Amino acid sequence: MFTALPSIESVQSVSQDTNLLIVGVVTDTADEQKIATSGVPTDLAAKYLDSFGISVTDLAESLGASAEKCQVTVLPPPADKSAPQLVLVGLAGKPSDENSNNESIRRAAASAVRAVTKLPGLDGVKVAISFGLDEAVLEAAEGALLGSYTFTSYLSEDKPSAIGSFEIVSTEPANSVVEKAKTVAEAVCRVRDWVNTTASDLYPEVFANQAKELADSTAINCEILDEKALAEGGFGGLLAVGKGSVRPPRLVKFEYRPEGAKNHLVLVGKGITFDTGGLNLKTATGMYTMKSDMAGAATVLATTLAIADLGIKVNVTALASMAENMPSGSAYHPSDVLKIYNGKTVENVNSDAEGRLVLADALSVGSELSPDYMIDVATLTGACIVALGNQTTGLMSNSSELARQLLSSADSVGENLWQLPLPDYLQDGLKSKIADLKSGSAATLGAGALYAAQFLSNFVADGIEWAHFDIAGPSFNDGEANHYLSSGGTGVCVRTLVDFISGLED
Ligand code: BES
Ligand code: ZN
Ligand code: ZN
Repeated sequence: MFTALPSIESVQSVSQDTNLLIVGVVTDTADEQKIATSGVPTDLAAKYLDSFGISVTDLAESLGASAEKCQVTVLPPPADKSAPQLVLVGLAGKPSDENSNNESIRRAAASAVRAVTKLPGLDGVKVAISFGLDEAVLEAAEGALLGSYTFTSYLSEDKPSAIGSFEIVSTEPANSVVEKAKTVAEAVCRVRDWVNTTASDLYPEVFANQAKELADSTAINCEILDEKALAEGGFGGLLAVGKGSVRPPRLVKFEYRPEGAKNHLVLVGKGITFDTGGLNLKTATGMYTMKSDMAGAATVLATTLAIADLGIKVNVTALASMAENMPSGSAYHPSDVLKIYNGKTVENVNSDAEGRLVLADALSVGSELSPDYMIDVATLTGACIVALGNQTTGLMSNSSELARQLLSSADSVGENLWQLPLPDYLQDGLKSKIADLKSGSAATLGAGALYAAQFLSNFVADGIEWAHFDIAGPSFNDGEANHYLSSGGTGVCVRTLVDFISGLED
């Protein structure tokens, strides 16, 4: 069902049966014009010298290896067939340089691994990574695992080589660090798998059931509300959006309540398994990537699973609103008035602005729980892509302190997050003539991401510190893979959220 990641372990020396060893290339401290290698074991260096009559560094230099970030050079194997073949990757500068930060280690490991998966006939290969940098074991492990990901479920042939296992070399044992990297990478790749799965295979019922199956093997309690329960509960936004589809909506609720936890965080995710735009139908190109419109739901569910696996002592509730937005005889209309879970009525101005409606119900439920923090994650607006492009998440928040913490978490895990304002005056544009508010400002030009966020704020109860992540751009990469950035679903924001939640532990 899900892409299996290679196994990974922490080791103090490269195992006998290792096939490939990834090491670093840095600039020589004595001579800036020259390169040096970082992490080559002395016995392997001797074998290379025996085989080629020159040092590993000279061999690498003759093959054009450089310390430039992420540049990969594959050396020929040594004569001794039992010894591993070296793969070199530029670490950008000297190991101690400021520009050689941990993010560059994550990217370097991923670039080297990605190059390895392109080599033929390496199925099941054992790869070790030795950068000679004990402080970057987590990043090396994460980069390796994330860079090894390719989505092959729909390929009948020509699958790329799948790496069998990784070992991360460090002087001190780092088992728990490597375990953590594995849990986090698994969560990121779970989001990627969910996003990459086509809308005919992943619709609300299937998505919800898969989430429950995963939760059932953890300490998370999972509840699924089906269309009947949603009708009884008054989930007018989710029901309206799901009305045009033969595949009914679902609301998935994860509850993780570890002993000793003090803080409570509610996560809310947009789970539109396909967004056609409904009666306000999208264009062919606009619709093509819309199987990814459930990335927010996937992110909050996978993050909560990772938090439970890591045993982090924070109460987390995840609410994932799942629906398929289709045009049909039963579809909701522009100008329909819907009643959201918290009782507020909303005039639908555009059936393609469906995300905010399904989020409104979930944010209302979240508000009832009076959490300390509430964060929603959503592929919400094309406007956010116009503002920030496809590699930066838009952050909007009613709390400058929460925003500061989230920006700091994103920075520490190498994700791009940028705060946009949430000006109150935009509420004027959301006034409806016939309902409490309308879902968008039909007449306004610009600020689409801010209007969407301002709309959502009506469903967040007073006193809750709330943040909204608009991941419309970075959740899906319709270009080529690059370092640990995969093609297709990316799993963006999982690592930022895991870091932030870990920080709420005491
Ligand atoms: N799912 C889209 C936003 C989106 C666009 C995500 C491109 C990823 C890539 C969302 O439901 C949508 O269509 N929003 C509209 C809102 C508008 C009608 C007010 C948009 O952004 O155009
Ligand atoms: Zn839409
Ligand atoms: Zn959408």
